Amino acid sequence: MTSTLDNTTAETAADLVAGFPFPFLEDRYRYSTNVEPAEQPVTTPAGQWGTAVVDIDSEYRAELDQRAVTLAADPTRHAVLPHMVPAAWDAMFTLMRELDAAYPEQMQLRSTGPDEWLWRNDILGIEQHFRYGDATTLPDEPLRYITSQVQEDIALLDQRNDQLFVDAGVVTFAADWSFGFDVGMSFLEIHGPVPRVRKEGVITRAHEFLKRLQPHQPYRRTNWTLTIDRRLDVSTEIYPEWGPDRESIQLVDDAEFGRRVHLRVEVQHLIRLPDSGAVMFLIRTYMLPLEQLATVDPWRRRAAEVLAELPEDMADYKGIIKYRDRAAQWLRDAAPTPPAPTGPGLPVWPATPPAVDTTGAAFLVVAVGDDAETAHVSRNWVAAAEAVGATRLLVLDTLTDEQDRASLHDALDEALTGTRILVTGGQYDVLTALAIAREAGAVPAELSSHVVHLRDLPLYCAHCRNTFRVEGRAGGTATCPGCSRDLEIHEHHSPTMGSFLASAAGGDA
Ligand code: HEM
Repeated sequence: MTSTLDNTTAETAADLVAGFPFPFLEDRYRYSTNVEPAEQPVTTPAGQWGTAVVDIDSEYRAELDQRAVTLAADPTRHAVLPHMVPAAWDAMFTLMRELDAAYPEQMQLRSTGPDEWLWRNDILGIEQHFRYGDATTLPDEPLRYITSQVQEDIALLDQRNDQLFVDAGVVTFAADWSFGFDVGMSFLEIHGPVPRVRKEGVITRAHEFLKRLQPHQPYRRTNWTLTIDRRLDVSTEIYPEWGPDRESIQLVDDAEFGRRVHLRVEVQHLIRLPDSGAVMFLIRTYMLPLEQLATVDPWRRRAAEVLAELPEDMADYKGIIKYRDRAAQWLRDAAPTPPAPTGPGLPVWPATPPAVDTTGAAFLVVAVGDDAETAHVSRNWVAAAEAVGATRLLVLDTLTDEQDRASLHDALDEALTGTRILVTGGQYDVLTALAIAREAGAVPAELSSHVVHLRDLPLYCAHCRNTFRVEGRAGGTATCPGCSRDLEIHEHHSPTMGSFLASAAGGDA
């Protein structure tokens, strides 16, 4: 049977990979006052990010739902000190303008009279008339109202006595800090716990820069850490819920490690609000599990180097010291490998799926069997491949089925030169698919594979000269499904035949 992957799932994963703001510019990371003008698109090996100040992706509704739940449970995630009310209006209005500019099809801000406005958010089905500055015309406090419609967290800084103070905000996705504790603190006080930065002048330079920030000249920077699971709220408040994962993650197997450990990147925008003069700090959080990061090979290599090299004090501060070495090794081990088997002997299957070769012109992903890991691996490949070129997913039940074999032959016939073919499934199906692909003219550089179990193999019976799927291991025994002989499965494999040699046990031919 042939079917296609559920579209929504593939697209969801694909947009998160394609839009991921990979933060490392070199193989080494140190703190710096890393600010640059905003709204400059950045092209990555998987796609692009950074065109607009606000960014909506396929997680929009899910993240807004999470924010609503957190705010309902913990009021300290939202604060507007009394002198910040004008800044909150300014922030809301500025963000509405940004949304209107970035997503004109779905978001519109229209003037309906002096200080009167109509706001439409068609994604959420919102149509709201309001009068600027009149709290009775909005269903919520303005900062809270707008953070229910953007994925960004927001902090607002008041500038007085030559200093900046974090005097308002809605922060539900804090990475290991407490907004409720920090409200009212100065910019310099807030950065007190960060190692190195005082001595190196990073924060004082940032402070001077922010004090000179001008309206209509937005800037941005990135920051990063690792987070276990796709957990946006890793705030100090709920440390007991997520802190223990830093211990337990060390005990899980490699597949689970790659699924659960995420590179977490914040794109932070710095904007001088035009009416109130406050500084708006937007924090947009992106997360990609290592297993998806590893599908983009330049990201895999660079992230491994950065994690391995990061000084102890920085790794400790980021809370990743106990598992960053394993994360680096995991990424190194996920290097693309030539398809197994490459020659005489037994196939050697790597523990982690290889990265997608992004130099390919097009991609054919073949997923055989109903193993959950097969679906998972193929989905990740499709997500990475779709960001680079035309991608086809072929889902098959088993290559013992004539129709499924015919579908594979058809797909291979239709594949253009330069197409990368990625196969995943049990050992029998992967070896058989690779042999069929070779027979169809694919060369080793075009083939990658990932085996999800070793329960079965393709067996060539030296006596009846047919190839069968059998449950067994090289060095073990099986009964030939063709001639019913008891067979010894030799530790002798042919990539061309796509099978293991077997002959009658005890020489009884
Ligand atoms: C150019 C501007 C900025 C620079 C260069 C900067 C730099 C940094 C650096 C290097 C860290 C350590 C991050 C890590 O290792 O994961 C940090 C943490 C932090 N930053 Fe900033 N930052 C800037 C703006 C801001 C602003 C405007 C806020 C306002 C809320 C802010 C709030 C924080 C907080 C709350 C932390 C965590 C501190 C803790 O551990 O309690 N930053 N920042």
